[in-house]
Amino acid sequence: MRRLGVNIDHVATLRNARGEKHPDPISAALHVVNCGADYVTIHLREDRRHINDKDAKRICNLKNVLVNLEVSMNESIISNALRIKPNYICIVPENRKEITTEGGLNLKRNFNKLKKIIFKFKKAKIRTSLFINPSVSDIKLSRLLEVDCVEIHTGKLANNVKSKQKYNKELQRIKNGTKLANSLGIEVHAGHGLDYKTTKLLSKIKEIHEYNIGHFIIGESVFYGLSKVIKNFKKLLK
Ligand code: PXP
Repeated sequence: MRRLGVNIDHVATLRNARGEKHPDPISAALHVVNCGADYVTIHLREDRRHINDKDAKRICNLKNVLVNLEVSMNESIISNALRIKPNYICIVPENRKEITTEGGLNLKRNFNKLKKIIFKFKKAKIRTSLFINPSVSDIKLSRLLEVDCVEIHTGKLANNVKSKQKYNKELQRIKNGTKLANSLGIEVHAGHGLDYKTTKLLSKIKEIHEYNIGHFIIGESVFYGLSKVIKNFKKLLK
């Protein structure tokens, strides 16, 4: 059974729009897990534009909720992450001006820095993943970095599908990347821009073990409710 991580940053975005307490991301974490999500994903951004330190700490302290924390390579964010001890870490690139994470990490440029960060998380026994583009060179570098997992950035595939452009080449690139990573002993995850159609396409690649989905799930839930939408995704990932 493939696993589904629901990204609840958007609940914090909605709360912050009013500067009050509702909707509460902590309740959202509990609720998505009750609805069938395998874990929750949150991104503690350097500018704290959605999830803040207090949210991250409280969500990581919840019993029976597994947490995947996305972090940049920023030193103070890494120290925070080591302090609050999520179950899983996903290291992502971060650019202040972006609306959302735009692509995978530059592993070549940041190799030594990443090696040190991965070592710290390994020492703390936190499963660690790198958010990467599905390129052969990045997968080989991930192996050299001795990371547990990679999350493949599916944004290009999702954009091509949504704008009705040809997507087979990108799908094949993800498939090849997944098979290579798998053969090197790296667990593969997927995320970014996924909806029902792209998740269904990717679900044919059996070696993708986890899916991290945020914006579409929260948006679709405005109409159909989290329970129904999460169940639909779980069905696709059976
Ligand atoms: N995975 C990672 C590493 C991400 O940075 C994001 C975006 O925050 C997602 C998954 C979820 O993307 P989306 O909100 O487009 O489903």
